[in-house]
Amino acid sequence: MTILMVALALAAAGLFFRWCEHGRNRRLPPGSMGWPYIGETLKLYTENPNSFFSTRRKRYGKIFKSHILGCPCVMISSPEAAKMVLASKAHLFKPTYPQSKERLIGPAALFFHQGHYHSLLKRLVAASFSPSAIRGSVASVQTIALKLLSSWEHATSPICTLLQMKKYAFEVAMMSVLGGEAEVETEGIRCLYGELEKGYNSMAVDIPGSRFYKAMKVRKALNERLMKIIERRRGKGGGGGLLGNMLRVEAGELTDSQIADNIIGVIFAAHDTTATVLTWLLKYLHDNPNLLQAVAAEQEGIARKLQLEGERGLTWDDTRDMSLTARVIQETLRSASIVSFTFREAVEDVELEGYVIPKGWKVLPLFRSIHHTSDFFPRPHKFDPSRFEVSPRPYTYMPFGNGLHSCPGSEFAKLEMLVLLHHLITTYRWRVVGEEDAIQYGPFPVPKGGLPIHVTHQSRRWEKDSTSFSSISQ
Ligand code: HEM
Repeated sequence: MTILMVALALAAAGLFFRWCEHGRNRRLPPGSMGWPYIGETLKLYTENPNSFFSTRRKRYGKIFKSHILGCPCVMISSPEAAKMVLASKAHLFKPTYPQSKERLIGPAALFFHQGHYHSLLKRLVAASFSPSAIRGSVASVQTIALKLLSSWEHATSPICTLLQMKKYAFEVAMMSVLGGEAEVETEGIRCLYGELEKGYNSMAVDIPGSRFYKAMKVRKALNERLMKIIERRRGKGGGGGLLGNMLRVEAGELTDSQIADNIIGVIFAAHDTTATVLTWLLKYLHDNPNLLQAVAAEQEGIARKLQLEGERGLTWDDTRDMSLTARVIQETLRSASIVSFTFREAVEDVELEGYVIPKGWKVLPLFRSIHHTSDFFPRPHKFDPSRFEVSPRPYTYMPFGNGLHSCPGSEFAKLEMLVLLHHLITTYRWRVVGEEDAIQYGPFPVPKGGLPIHVTHQSRRWEKDSTSFSSISQ
């Protein structure tokens, strides 16, 4: 017993000594490392991230150290430092993700890589989601939006906005990845993916019964289904969507397993993000009735045009005529800042704004903090889309990241939101049910309970030969 106590005391002293070493003889940024090992993890994940960042920013400045998820880290909230980490010196900061996410998504997904392999995949994904590639997909996105909205009409109780938006974003992501070609495995993939994502925020403990273990089993089953699709598509020259583009790269450049990891990767990147932003859009529009009215006027003008032109569907060009709605989306991305920060790791000791970031330390550009700085966005707590009538200063607005690993799906995500908003706003009204201002974090900030809403259909009565119209609530 005594020996055990002595051993424990020595181990604790060693840990404490190493802890103190961090701060010695180096110009580390100011800040608190919290408790040994736990650091400030609990504070970051239980407090409102706005207050976590703003109290430290006030106390220490735009760059400060902390210790989260078992790693020493430096948090940065100046545009200049963000530029250096994400773009100008990106080669010194490699992307890093929790192990559970890397293993469940698949280690060959592009987020986890740098160099040639990353650029090959980034080129493929960016080409599949560029404006010229996605302009032809408006009709398919619209079909998915209309199917979702019509399913709401029969709801007798409030619906959970987040869950509904997840359905929508998942289906749109599958369509963009597989190219809209019907595959017998699609439904199975949908069910399995729902199980897989439950493991994303678990600890990577691979023992029977653990959440991670269950999710890994699901990941294997998902792989088998993807492999069947990949094999069939290889025999047919690739087909459409991102999958087709990945299958057509030079023989031998991508293995089936790398392709499967990237399919899961893109679904992961496209799904929860877009669904969460759509949920916030409904919340902000609901809370700002005058703005909703102005957005409705913009959308109804377009709906009327479609009707006068023979009840045609939306096109890419129509979505370019939605300038106010587009600014509402921009402001939602700023205000909600659902990707609060990202993770990088210093590959060597790096000098940053007069401080040293030691090799192996994590570096977190704090997007949310920058988006809520009054120097860049006056009265940052006010929801005000008109601020985007002028372009923001470089590196002050990064809802889709920036630099080498910036989001290749940003235009597609915005298109998806514009199409859904068009049909929602011109045909339905919604009312938020219950506790209106609470937020839950899991991992993205989202209105509590996923924003339960009550939806009513409204039919439109157009007054032909006039520019005005009226709507009747049913
Ligand atoms: C509103 C929705 C979305 C938001 C807020 C969002 C945000 C982001 C952010 C902040 C990053 C950079 C992460 C970093 O630097 O570590 C990123 C990367 C990425 N996003 Fe998105 N994203 C959205 C939708 C999409 C969609 C629809 C796709 C589908 C193609 C997509 C695919 C990706 C991919 C593949 C990456 C990794 C890029 C790389 O590592 O080079 N995202 N996204």
